[in-house]
Amino acid sequence: MSRRPDDPPYLHAFPDSLPFARRLGRCVARAVAPIRLHRFPDGESLVRVTAPVGREVCLVRSLHDPNVKLVEILLAADALRRAGARRVTLLAPYLPYMRQDSVFTPGEPISQRVVAGALRAAFDRVLTLEAHLHRVQRLQDVLGRASCSLSAAPVIAAWLGRDGGETVVVGPDEESTAAVRAIGEIAALPWVVGRKARQGDRRVTIRFPALPARSRAVIVDDIASSGATIATAARALRRSGVRTLDAVVVHAIFAVGSLSSIRAAGVRRIVSCDTIPHRTNAIATASLFAGALLGGTVPVAAARS
Ligand code: R5P
Repeated sequence: MSRRPDDPPYLHAFPDSLPFARRLGRCVARAVAPIRLHRFPDGESLVRVTAPVGREVCLVRSLHDPNVKLVEILLAADALRRAGARRVTLLAPYLPYMRQDSVFTPGEPISQRVVAGALRAAFDRVLTLEAHLHRVQRLQDVLGRASCSLSAAPVIAAWLGRDGGETVVVGPDEESTAAVRAIGEIAALPWVVGRKARQGDRRVTIRFPALPARSRAVIVDDIASSGATIATAARALRRSGVRTLDAVVVHAIFAVGSLSSIRAAGVRRIVSCDTIPHRTNAIATASLFAGALLGGTVPVAAARS
């Protein structure tokens, strides 16, 4: 990604992702151009590219609250190509609709394939972090060879390492094994995972094996939505004698009431990666994406199964 001083901006970002795009821009030494967005009274969106467009560009937008944003990024991809782009990367720090990779109950769609089909038609590649994949193991398998779901393990391990001490890294369910193992190995900390059973959108049960004798546990999960998983894990860990509990999530969805229920369960500190803007953001991920954009070797996320 070599450049001359008068090159057009490489990064184009929606207003809601500008702060993230600017952090990324600093890491890759490239300018950021804002995408202008107008919403009509009937709910339709109009996007407008505001800067000269190079042959190779990267559109930055995190896709939490996804439905309207998905339409808008498709419009932006079209606008970028009409303005001269030949290769368009979508950099979505949070990528939705990856869980429904199968028909679980007759009558349902395979949402992952529907959304991936639209993205593949619009973008040459998609970069994201810790996509929630299960039966389909790699993002490449849904979004094409050049696409990649990066691992958050290096930045989470670095954050854990700052505190050091007597810490055990805890995954709330077996699906978190690969991620928690990677974090434990990088940070040189012991790790365990629980067995989770979900009874409903906001109700889970979790059982843990015997914990290594450590006074502090840090629960690590890819997403906190209702907060039920982290709160239930916290209560179980407290019952088993852990004195200090913190929690790290990658994608800070945090539905209304979730943070208070996590705190009520005894979690002292809750932090998140900056893939979704939220007041818990404490772990920067732009450097991971910069590595991917600059063509370096990047850690790839493992599927959660
Ligand atoms: C489940 O497979 C995920 O990794 C998270 O544990 C889950 O999405 C968290 O959701 P909630 O906060 O609603 O329990």
